[in-house]
Amino acid sequence: MKFLVINGPNLNLLGLREPHIYGKQDFAALQGFILEAAQEAGVEVELFQHNHEGAIVDKIQAAYSVFDGIVINPAAYTHTSVAILDALKAVALPAVEVHLSDVSKRESFRQISYAGMACVKTYMGLGFEGYRQAIFFLRDYIEGAKA
Ligand code: DQA
Repeated sequence: MKFLVINGPNLNLLGLREPHIYGKQDFAALQGFILEAAQEAGVEVELFQHNHEGAIVDKIQAAYSVFDGIVINPAAYTHTSVAILDALKAVALPAVEVHLSDVSKRESFRQISYAGMACVKTYMGLGFEGYRQAIFFLRDYIEGAKA
């Protein structure tokens, strides 16, 4: 089973970026955490981070028939991007949304998630752990769908 893990804009600045919200660990630490979680779950992962909306749309399109599922933290594009929502719906791969912070307790402009409308589950406010839970959930979800 092979998953694509997508991280959106500014997540490459983890550690530097608002550490009181996103934590002190950097993006390399997050990537290492995700790779370890994937190994633990017995799935393959490809990691992709980009700051540009179109690049994320291109990557989702290219995922069709290559990956079994997608874990996505669209970052700020969560709250603005109908294009990412449409791309997820187009490829129709099972997808899980992750946010490091608990967006439900933050500003009103963060209360809508377009990408989330195409996802089977959302993890928020768990920091890195959200990615681990997303990977395990997606694995079990896909296994269940096959049975
Ligand atoms: C985020 C939450 C978003 O609102 C924000 O724009 C981000 C990160 C999170 O992981 O908590 O960039 O997706």
